[in-house]
Amino acid sequence: MEIKVIAGDITKQPVDAIIVNLFEGTERPTGATAAVDQALEGAISRLIAQREAKGKKGEVTIVHTMGKIEPLRVALAGMGKQAELTLDTIRGAMGEACRALRKTGAKRVATIVHGAGMGGIEPEEAAIAITEGSILGLYTFKRHKSKIENETEIEELTLVEREASKIRSLERGVARGKVLTDATALTRDLVNEPANYMTPTDMTNIAKKVAEENNIEIEVLEREHMSELGMNALLGVAKGSTQPPKFIILRYWGNRENPKKLGLVGKGITFDSGGISLKPAEGMGEMKGDMAGGASVIATLGAVAKLRLKINVVGLVPATENLPSGSAQKPGDVVVALNKKTIEVENTDAEGRLILADALAYGRKLGLSAMVDVATLTGAIRIALGTHCTGAFTNNQDLVDKVVRSGEKAGEKIWQMPLFEEYKEQIKSEVADIKNTGGRFAGSITGALFLAEFSEDTPWVHLDIAGTSTSTSEKGYTVKGATGVPTRTLINLALALTEEGAKQ
Ligand code: BES
Ligand code: MN
Ligand code: ZN
Repeated sequence: MEIKVIAGDITKQPVDAIIVNLFEGTERPTGATAAVDQALEGAISRLIAQREAKGKKGEVTIVHTMGKIEPLRVALAGMGKQAELTLDTIRGAMGEACRALRKTGAKRVATIVHGAGMGGIEPEEAAIAITEGSILGLYTFKRHKSKIENETEIEELTLVEREASKIRSLERGVARGKVLTDATALTRDLVNEPANYMTPTDMTNIAKKVAEENNIEIEVLEREHMSELGMNALLGVAKGSTQPPKFIILRYWGNRENPKKLGLVGKGITFDSGGISLKPAEGMGEMKGDMAGGASVIATLGAVAKLRLKINVVGLVPATENLPSGSAQKPGDVVVALNKKTIEVENTDAEGRLILADALAYGRKLGLSAMVDVATLTGAIRIALGTHCTGAFTNNQDLVDKVVRSGEKAGEKIWQMPLFEEYKEQIKSEVADIKNTGGRFAGSITGALFLAEFSEDTPWVHLDIAGTSTSTSEKGYTVKGATGVPTRTLINLALALTEEGAKQ
């Protein structure tokens, strides 16, 4: 879908449909909605009076224009209470309105710039949110359908602004929004892709493409090289699979004079069967998305390069399948990780922390100044936090505060979890330095404490996205399947660190 910005009157656009908004509790429409209401001889006012349109968040009322204006339909998007308006409300409203209009067959759509200049929202931010909401809300994954159902696509969205002075900042917002949504859609694509189309080799090829298109350095370690380095925790997981494991390293240099390098580390299990500690059959297919962390890291590096941020970012993605076979690693095995710590593999299904152990230790070898790892690590985080927010764990409060704020801006909620010493008892091993499971209680915390042993004193944040990387329902700009979380958070983090660096 193409997105344009023009100065003009929303009622006079040569399009199939237009989007205006309605705040909850408004008796009579204001602003652009009032102009449309007038052109429609009070049709919107009547819907409000009859309580058909209430302006609640998520509500979309389709109004037929009966030839009174050129567009055939008006989508009246509910925005909730005006005093509570946020960027995320705007994203959600655009997602709902665009999907409703797609169903009517609309190809060309115009919208007012919801929220611009309202309650402290800058026009540029509003344009970013509108771009995000519409593109992400309309996202579909149809690659493997041989017949596309007769749904048409919206081909063009025009942001219509009355004040010509705002056009430049709106255009900047749309451009920035497109970088954010392209990266998010890439993450969604990789996560939605079935595991037979998204092996470690396939992931590597995508990473190579992203690197080539954006002038990013890429290096891929093969099994032999990993073995020489001593990445035995990762290689142990890979033993059960005939697919060769890959360790993907992406380097973006945006500020070579600066010695600081931000590390983004993403879990890349392209399918998690559990290994010898096999998972139950029901729902196992969901584990094709166990590389969501790695996907978001690859996509983020592409976006950071497109934005030409003056920051250095290194992406690390350990990628392998976790399968049972005659050569697979067994419960009780002991492996020696890259940093020479010995690990008892109590459960082969706790594989994410094994591959991340080597990746984090490698990040330290590279001298990364901070590391953020992203992983669909534990079912336990879903029990603790459900599906509405990502769990964050850290050894550095300042860094996690920045990550949480970057998430807030993106509308990707993050909640910090504790890493109290006392829990460490649960991952003590009788036979090795540490074991990879910590029992039923506080599973996401013991998983994070395991990782902490490998990030050591490098400032580090672990994001457990097992609850947030996919969705079973469609709402706002979230569709069923992959969400793309936390790609926009990571890009915002890189932006925030760039701004901070510029100040110093
Ligand atoms: N990939 C899973 C975690 C997961 C669960 C992701 C549900 C998405 C949805 C991870 O590798 C795993 O299997 N974790 C185990 C750890 C346990 C064996 C200590 C779990 O959560 O059960
Ligand atoms: Mn597992
Ligand atoms: Zn896993």
